[in-house]
Amino acid sequence: MSVRICFVCLGNICRSPTAEGIFRKLVNDASLSDVVVVDSAGTGDWHVGAPPDARSAAAARERGVALQGKAAQFTARDFARFDLVIAMDRDNRSNLRRLARSDEDRKKIHLLRDFDPESSADSDVPDPYYGGADGFAEVFAICSAGCAGLLEHVEATYEL
Ligand code: 4NP
Repeated sequence: MSVRICFVCLGNICRSPTAEGIFRKLVNDASLSDVVVVDSAGTGDWHVGAPPDARSAAAARERGVALQGKAAQFTARDFARFDLVIAMDRDNRSNLRRLARSDEDRKKIHLLRDFDPESSADSDVPDPYYGGADGFAEVFAICSAGCAGLLEHVEATYEL
């Protein structure tokens, strides 16, 4: 049995690689890396093949998290590859809902911050791309809180 999780933002270079890196570390620390598969993608195609944004990578590295991977675009076929598809914001969620081809696909889509008990419903991880360094630190903190809640949800739902 494995649980496959994909984090999705717009470009797949800032927010979703950050969430992926944080979640992978939590999974490793919980000795669950054999059962939980973590990936990320973007709804846009502008940065396909690019590594994580250097500002995101620096913010993560300073906090003990390594970002990895190359940007990929999420397509309709990818729903079959994952059990949970975690959108960083409501725009990404709308785009994913448009790509979904069945109720089964649609049920996999969630917002990251909805797993953070401190966050109000339907909150976004803000897009840091055109902002300053503070935005990248904020994204890291927001993703950390969401990922902690998501891991609890996964452990409870899949009885890990
Ligand atoms: P991300 O950030 O969706 O968190 O990866 C962005 C990266 C690139 C762009 C927008 C957001 N862009 O417009 O190129």
